[in-house]
Amino acid sequence: MEGMSRLNLVGSSPAFQQVLRSLHRLAEVDATVLIGGETGTGKELAARALHYIGPRSGRPFIPVNCGGLSDNLLESELFGHERGAFTDARRSNAGLVSEAQGGTLFLDEIDTLSPRGQGSLLRFLQDKSYRRVGASSQNYADVRVVVASNADLQAMAQDRQFRKDLLYRLNVLHIQMPPLRERPGDAVELARLFLVRLCSRYQKPDKYLHEDALSFIQRYDWPGNVRELENLIHRDFLLCDGDALRCIDACRQLLPQALNGADRSCFSEAKADAIADFERRFVRELLAQAGGSITQAARLAGKDRSAFGKLVRKYGIAEPLNGLSLG
Ligand SMILES: Nc1ncnc2c1ncn2[C@@H]1O[C@H](COP(=O)(O)OP(=O)(O)OP(=O)(O)O)[C@@H](O)[C@H]1O
Ligand SMILES: [Mg+2]
Repeated sequence: MEGMSRLNLVGSSPAFQQVLRSLHRLAEVDATVLIGGETGTGKELAARALHYIGPRSGRPFIPVNCGGLSDNLLESELFGHERGAFTDARRSNAGLVSEAQGGTLFLDEIDTLSPRGQGSLLRFLQDKSYRRVGASSQNYADVRVVVASNADLQAMAQDRQFRKDLLYRLNVLHIQMPPLRERPGDAVELARLFLVRLCSRYQKPDKYLHEDALSFIQRYDWPGNVRELENLIHRDFLLCDGDALRCIDACRQLLPQALNGADRSCFSEAKADAIADFERRFVRELLAQAGGSITQAARLAGKDRSAFGKLVRKYGIAEPLNGLSLG
């Protein structure tokens, strides 16, 4: 897996190892691949892997965001145009397909392709021949086409939002990138990778993930997948003073269950809270039993008076129990 380590596709979970095996198999053939998966799961990285571990690696990898293709310039952007082909065409333009010659054309967010774009692409995929706008002759493209989408293309085809015939052409081979929540252990592995990269990028001494961060990373369900994890580690890296990342803000903001004591995300915080709860109740009860006398309550607790007094002050128990004297 030499090529893979260069691309740094990290993850040891069975689901991800399966993806790596598929990438290796599909890199060797030329058929069109459709890469599916939720946002941030690594679809573009997978497309690059297909290119760079395959026989076309010495030729260009050309990514195209279909959402960014304007409808009336679409054919010209993809297939190029001759000089004077339309009003603004002062110079000829080779087009993205020709730029990718010999390599891989990666059409990202394929679900955002307009109906017109879908028609052009379908025609192109039938025999990979195309005509520059304004040209009379046909060209043949030696490109491998890889497309990606986080939308449910089958459902879109059912609803007639995406052409079925195009979907069949695209979906010859399929890779589904699993969401991070279905990749046990991978989030921590990736977090460590990102941390190492950040330390070297910012030339900082090594940092590590505190047990609070580890517990959070393992328990959160990562709706934004690897990208969300990468951004979070980056933010925490920049904000952290010491050498340990704790992900405290994320813990508080992202785990709503962190607010009810039974299901706390951060072990040490939960532990500190549990101890505080216990101490508060303990002090209150003893004070009540001792009729408000700290000296007597301390005796009941088997503690010395000043240590017990400290607890009373720590929890501000003096105020609710009116008339209690700390003196
Ligand atoms: N297995 C992995 N190992 C290392 N880095 C990864 C892995 N998967 C994803 N990443 C990183 O996570 C980020 C998101 O990946 P990528 O852009 O490929 O996702 P995507 O599926 O195309 O997302 P979107 O649907 O939002 O376009 C990138 O910075 C990528 O390098
Ligand atoms: Mg992407």
